[in-house]
Amino acid sequence: VDLGRLEEEARALLPPGSYDYIAGGAGDETTLADSVAAWDRLRLRPRVLRDVSAVSTETTVLGEPVSMPVLVAPTAFHRMVHPDGEPATARGTAEAGTLMTMSTRSTSSIDAVASAAPDAPRWFQVYVVTDRDQTARSVCRAAELGFRALVLTGDTPLLGRRLRDVRNQFELPDEVVAAFEATDLPHTLDQDRGVTVEQIGWLRDLTGLPVLVKGVLRGDDAVACLEAGASGVVVSNHGGRQLDGAVASADALPEVVEAVAGRAEVFVDGGVRRGVDVVRALALGARAVLVGRPVLWALATGGADGVARLLRTLRAELELAMALCGAARVEEITDDLVVRT
Ligand SMILES: Cc1cc2nc3c(=O)[nH]c(=O)nc-3n(C[C@H](O)[C@H](O)[C@H](O)COP(=O)(O)O)c2cc1C
Repeated sequence: VDLGRLEEEARALLPPGSYDYIAGGAGDETTLADSVAAWDRLRLRPRVLRDVSAVSTETTVLGEPVSMPVLVAPTAFHRMVHPDGEPATARGTAEAGTLMTMSTRSTSSIDAVASAAPDAPRWFQVYVVTDRDQTARSVCRAAELGFRALVLTGDTPLLGRRLRDVRNQFELPDEVVAAFEATDLPHTLDQDRGVTVEQIGWLRDLTGLPVLVKGVLRGDDAVACLEAGASGVVVSNHGGRQLDGAVASADALPEVVEAVAGRAEVFVDGGVRRGVDVVRALALGARAVLVGRPVLWALATGGADGVARLLRTLRAELELAMALCGAARVEEITDDLVVRT
């Protein structure tokens, strides 16, 4: 597959309102555009004449072996793009040997996602809703079903203003709402605005699972999360969907990596589109990247197979980029490989 064309192929298949809901960002979409551009401002400084006869993309995340440092980001409403929904994403991700983060706003139950790929590692993304019992029930179910970590999204006390959705008067299609209401997940989009770092320890103690905080863009916030019991952070601006004008994650990553200072794993998402972007992120100190929209385009165009194909292609691109950078193993992707232009 040509990853650059995947979005156009999905666009041709999807109702315009659904396409815009996924593709769009908040406000003037400044942050959205910058998320992709920021990776491109980092240029590579390849090493030559290194032995790259055997390149391996394998790594671990929170101790879990994965085929590559590319994970699936949590995204809402997979049945909006494909009738097989989140279980298909889970199967495709498992086939590629990597890890999926299931969204609280999934259109399939936690059980259905777990049983779609029972042996694959997976994380559960949490929105803490006003009805804490609802949140407690879903995270405990995820823990029972073998999810390996919780990803607490911290950048969404309320939803960003997405002008495409306003203009389109976008509403979820009826069949998606029906699927959503049939799950054991919180139905309400009523995210609690009062959530603080205190909920990190609450989630950890409820489930015994490590908690990552997603949406961190500052070093001081990363430190506060770790001090409150987080096992890591995901540097993210929610794909440009929350605060327009927020810094690109590629630009925020070095500050967070420096503040965390090796005490925890730092992940990053937003605008990762090619294997070379993965090299850039790892060179800046990320343990792994997460991809959001490309997975939805792949699901829309090819179901589970489409997701597997996308991830295999990203892995092949990463392998090639590593070989051409003179890095045979992910540990050899170090900060000297990039320069800011
Ligand atoms: C359609 C869509 C739905 C999303 N839903 C969620 C969600 O339910 N929870 C969450 O933490 N992040 C959500 N995100 C943000 C993604 O996890 C991720 O941060 C972002 O998409 C990464 O940027 P990328 O799409 O450029 O790869 C969503 C993003 C999109 C595009």
